[in-house]
Amino acid sequence: MNHRTVQQMIEKFARTFGSADGLLCSRAPGRVNLLGEHTDYNGGFVLPMAVDREVRFFFRPVDAGPVRVWSENFGEWDEFDLDEISFNLGQPWANYVRGVARALLDAGRPLKPFEAIVYGDAPLGAGLGSSAAIEVAAGLAFCAASAESLDRTALALLCQKAENDFVGVNCGIMDQFVSLRARHERAVMLDCRSLEFQLLPLDTAQVRVVVANTMVYHELAASAYNQRRATCEAAAAAIGRREEGVTQLRDVSSDLLEACRDLLDEPAYRRARHVVTEDERVCAGVAALQAGDYPAFGELMNASHESLDADYEVSCEELNVMVEISRRQSGVLGARMTGAGFGGCTVNLVERAEAGRFADALASGYRAAAGIEPELYEFGAVRGAEVGPL
Ligand code: GLA
Repeated sequence: MNHRTVQQMIEKFARTFGSADGLLCSRAPGRVNLLGEHTDYNGGFVLPMAVDREVRFFFRPVDAGPVRVWSENFGEWDEFDLDEISFNLGQPWANYVRGVARALLDAGRPLKPFEAIVYGDAPLGAGLGSSAAIEVAAGLAFCAASAESLDRTALALLCQKAENDFVGVNCGIMDQFVSLRARHERAVMLDCRSLEFQLLPLDTAQVRVVVANTMVYHELAASAYNQRRATCEAAAAAIGRREEGVTQLRDVSSDLLEACRDLLDEPAYRRARHVVTEDERVCAGVAALQAGDYPAFGELMNASHESLDADYEVSCEELNVMVEISRRQSGVLGARMTGAGFGGCTVNLVERAEAGRFADALASGYRAAAGIEPELYEFGAVRGAEVGPL
């Protein structure tokens, strides 16, 4: 977040709450997933990096009374008592904050209230992890206000729980985890079952990550997401009844899936095939990044998009148009949709020398084809979330 915006938020805090004395700040980045889509909730592998778009809480602990939060993005107040946290039907953004408080309390963490201004420069609902960013920034603010120290992995899991149980989206662990664990100039390969992770280099002297926002968001996203997850779990259970040791699609190889094809209906088979092959692509992608073989990594990204479109059916026309235009440009090594799908962003791996020209050509191509002005971002990999005095 740029310095000027931070200054404006501090001034806003002082005007709103009387002074900026004792002001603390938490920040949590969004993410772009390079490879490994819809694998996290199947116990599989993902390969995201944190990006320079984030959510910040400017906050000050108070001794008693409700939690009071002003959302600068929505121009709305939310206020709730920690001993009576209910779902806020009218203000969806507030439920990420309330849900995290509830998850921390349920985990036995005594919380103290705070007053806060929350602001994010991560595009909302664009597949760049803005929901996880607000959860993580809220979680760090609650822990700091209450002098509770919590391991980063434990906090990531509680933020995920907030989204699953309170908000009602059965997301996996990727976004919260990378927001908390990311490092400068590194991509994060996470094993979503063991939560072991590996940091991988991305040589920005050679390649750039360009993200293109289609500016569309199809409303069925949340319900379709939960449906996909349920289909995957049912497929794993069916295979597990025949094959000992299979509890999630993570445990299924391509060969085993073929051998068990008779157990699944056609859509379930294709959903499972996406997940199984996507896990294989992430493993191959790790080797490609370690070897600095960016063309190979780009090919895996392309294959991931095809699989998400044809087998998992979470792409949409605008994403496909964006990807097609991207692939016609010189210097592009790979292009795919990123995040949950049904709109949002594509991620493109581009040779460094071509990145600026690529972004301009992609923007004008999409504008001409879709009649929509896209947003383009060139991202480096940034460090994970933090909290402390300003
Ligand atoms: C959303 C979820 C993640 C993950 C992706 C798809 O971003 O929050 O947990 O499932 O979709 O890969």
